Amino acid sequence: MKRLIALAVMVAAILPARADEGMWLPALISQRIADMQAKGLQLTAEDLYSVNHASLKDAIVLFGGGCTGEVVSDQGLLLTNHHCGYSYIQRHSSVEHDYLKDGFWAMNQAQELPNPGLTVRFLERMDNVTEAVLEGITDALSEEEKASLISQRCDAIRQQAEDPAQGLVAQVSALYYGNQYFLYVFRQFRDVRLVGAPPSSIGKFGGETDNWMWPRHTGDFSIFRIYAAPDGTPADYSPENVPYRPKKSFEISRAGVQEGDFTFVYGCPGSTREYIHSAEVDYVATVSDPERIALRDQRLGIMKKYMTGNQAVRIQYSSKYASVANAWKKWQGEAKGIVKMQTVARKQAYEARFAEWAQGTRYEGLTERLATLYAAWVPYQRTYEYFLETVNSVELPAFAGRLSRNLDKREAVAEAFFKDYYQPIDEEIFEAMLTAFFDEVPDTFQPAFFKEQLVQHGSVHAWREWLYANSCLTDPARVAALESLEQLQQDPAYQFYDAYIQCFSRDIYPVLSSLDDEIEGLYHDYMQGQMDFEPDKAFYPDANLTLRIAYGHVEGYRPCDAVYYQPVSTLRGIMEKDNPDIFDYNIPQVLRDLYAQGGYEDQPVCFLATNHTTGGNSGSPVLNARGQLIGINFDRVWEGTMSDIVFDPEVCRNISLDIRYLLFVVEKVGGAGYLLDEMHFTN
Ligand code: ARG
Ligand code: ASP
Repeated sequence: MKRLIALAVMVAAILPARADEGMWLPALISQRIADMQAKGLQLTAEDLYSVNHASLKDAIVLFGGGCTGEVVSDQGLLLTNHHCGYSYIQRHSSVEHDYLKDGFWAMNQAQELPNPGLTVRFLERMDNVTEAVLEGITDALSEEEKASLISQRCDAIRQQAEDPAQGLVAQVSALYYGNQYFLYVFRQFRDVRLVGAPPSSIGKFGGETDNWMWPRHTGDFSIFRIYAAPDGTPADYSPENVPYRPKKSFEISRAGVQEGDFTFVYGCPGSTREYIHSAEVDYVATVSDPERIALRDQRLGIMKKYMTGNQAVRIQYSSKYASVANAWKKWQGEAKGIVKMQTVARKQAYEARFAEWAQGTRYEGLTERLATLYAAWVPYQRTYEYFLETVNSVELPAFAGRLSRNLDKREAVAEAFFKDYYQPIDEEIFEAMLTAFFDEVPDTFQPAFFKEQLVQHGSVHAWREWLYANSCLTDPARVAALESLEQLQQDPAYQFYDAYIQCFSRDIYPVLSSLDDEIEGLYHDYMQGQMDFEPDKAFYPDANLTLRIAYGHVEGYRPCDAVYYQPVSTLRGIMEKDNPDIFDYNIPQVLRDLYAQGGYEDQPVCFLATNHTTGGNSGSPVLNARGQLIGINFDRVWEGTMSDIVFDPEVCRNISLDIRYLLFVVEKVGGAGYLLDEMHFTN
């Protein structure tokens, strides 16, 4: 027996601990640090987050509105994903300089390209302000009074912390459904320049085919630089600005990763819903995901049909296609994962236990009330999603709506629209989506105008032909000649737009948003109830695009019976996929030539780890036990995409670019090895 126990202890010590669910608050990381250290971390809580001296948080930014980036030199050099820099790279691209296709490499600082509108923000500090926000808020107040007081207090706290001259911006965010509030103070920079990007055949290698998948070989990175006024304060773009000297930058480790190595991801996850009621999970897995997938199947099929074999259309629709396909593929993995995990049944069992425990407490009846609210919510939410995926995905009416709001800028709005518009695609999408809309949306929610048009024209097809033949908005010259809003309002594309917006804002939105508010209100209590019900469990707050730490280790997984995925991919795998006839797998010739020289077969490209991440974590630094940069996070595996709702340690994996592949591409493909001179390497 004794020997058995000794064996068990030994095995436990050798085997990596199970994957770690959770996205933890940096300011409270001292609560997790013992666990992190037990699993391999060699740093202290103060090394990760400190307001008194430079810590790792000072090298991390929220990049633009929804990605993460990390500083890797004392000259403000910044790394993020290619897909995070994509729209900026695109804006600098033209037929003569197609940086998307060919890549871009500044050969000195003077060649770096400014990006108006792009900002990055560093977290200066985060403070728990719950007491100040909730003081005197009691159940004697009505829900509206509570909400208005809370919002006034949050505004006041935020304003007090802001200092525009120093670039200090602040926000107060609710955590745990408003059971806690944190003030976040950021220093925001607004002169951020593009330094380098690989060709898309590296930065987006694998395209939609490999997206959300392993084995993966995407060189998903781009490089920027933060500039500041000569005194170091944030400033608008100016040639006088100088590279920003950060408080901290990451050291880069070239030692590589081994299965089992401790890693952590420090970034800005956007949104998760881990504590919701079974009714919502059921809706997501059995209604929302499958229906939206089916609608997008149709749209993607239509786009693809016209993109194939027509280069101009492919360029026009590649970014639209990518964003439709990204969620479409994720939802497939998510729905499957929820079903496989039996999350609905498990949550129902949990809710039954909770309800029993809650008897006689202030939480009594909560789960039942949530279930009742959800029953009322589902038809409205479903209709809302149908509107979004069908009528709202037709491009011409949406263009009419934009024009009506920006008539004075109609030429610019029209130019942006027509650059990426191909009418045959839009017409076919109109017909397919409107057909689905009439079939699936309950009659009471359909705009009367739509029904009249259908009767008048006899079929969706005839309506489509009439609309596109009679709208003047399909013609740039006629858009430019528009004389007044009244004239625009006579256009059939505008009337279509107006009919659904009116119907939506009158018949659907008010009910849906009041149900949403009621549900969120109950979650305030249900969240606290769950914490009281399981006082020994560590609850991490749902993601909300604020800085978090997730930790785990490098590990492969079993996607299905008889298959084990190794956690590291190499250049050899890129060559295996290489195929000049397949757009997603057609690599640049220079990579083939390099490979032919020999010696690069084992060049690492991507790796898997068990860190709990989500959208927004793209571009996040992936760090080793000593806090050195070993990779850049950019995706998750398909079988684990339900992790926004339920985390399965068996299959939830984040996918990172191995930092050594970035160095290889910068040096050998980009010929921009001079950039490595300002980075700090540990080995
Ligand atoms: N799946 C990754 C993330 O959600 C990358 C998305 C960009 N790449 C693409 N092929 N669409 O969001
Ligand atoms: N690709 C995602 C992003 O863009 C990351 C993820 O969802 O895992 O943030």
